[in-house]
Amino acid sequence: MIKVEKPEIGLKPYPHLIIEDAFGDSSLLNSGFPSDSEFIKSFRMDKDMTYPMKNYLNLIIRNKTYNALHNYIYSVEFVSLFLNFFKDEILKNFSEGNLLFNPFDLPIIGSPYELSMIKINENLKDSPFLFPRLDLGYGGVDYGKNNGGGGVHTDNYGRVISIVYYVNSPKDMEGGEHRIYKIQDNKPLLEKVIEPKEGRLIASLQTNTALHDVNPITKIKGYRKAFYLAISCNKRIWKNSEDWLMKLTKNRDPQNIIHNGKSLKSRFKGFIMRKLLS
Ligand SMILES: [Fe+2]
Repeated sequence: MIKVEKPEIGLKPYPHLIIEDAFGDSSLLNSGFPSDSEFIKSFRMDKDMTYPMKNYLNLIIRNKTYNALHNYIYSVEFVSLFLNFFKDEILKNFSEGNLLFNPFDLPIIGSPYELSMIKINENLKDSPFLFPRLDLGYGGVDYGKNNGGGGVHTDNYGRVISIVYYVNSPKDMEGGEHRIYKIQDNKPLLEKVIEPKEGRLIASLQTNTALHDVNPITKIKGYRKAFYLAISCNKRIWKNSEDWLMKLTKNRDPQNIIHNGKSLKSRFKGFIMRKLLS
């Protein structure tokens, strides 16, 4: 579906690219986008859906365009295409020791693996592999304030590439832009603001410095409709950087790292509760 062979990669502040009309004619994706009531409330967007939710399955059964999109995203071809877009930067990060595995050496599972919750396996015995994911979502007023990543962040530590695709050009919207940050004096500093526009795709390599957020929406007519796509590893793939850098983003702060389904903080709370109750 994506026809571009070699998109231009922006290197500052971290590797990213923009493709206009990425999936060809966007009007069928826009007109076939599910209605508000078909979505469920979520922590990512105001409302979203992914495989294998009932309404997501209904969508890919009833709508040919979405059926083709689903089959395309959940494919080895799709994952390989985006890995190749960022090939030079991925190999550079691997040779510099920032990546624990070389993504080009990993098997690709071209089918849904993660389902609704983010799933990263800390079990060292399990072999690493890459897999894609697609979420469809709506954003209205206040989107970006507490959800949409909840402020400046990088994505989780298994994420290799994150992609957002805008299904519509939101009307009368204030806020809602995708913002990317450089780091200056150990703090995030806004570097680039990208407007949501129908058919526009933004992809970025989720290094430990890939800080981004959504400018919270303060006004909008209708919704900002988007696809969130991800290429992830089932295990941690980014090596920890220095402490101050890891603390800039809650998703990579070692304090928040999940062990056997619980963060260190919640394990500590559980320990205190058990002591109090014993
Ligand atoms: Fe994010």
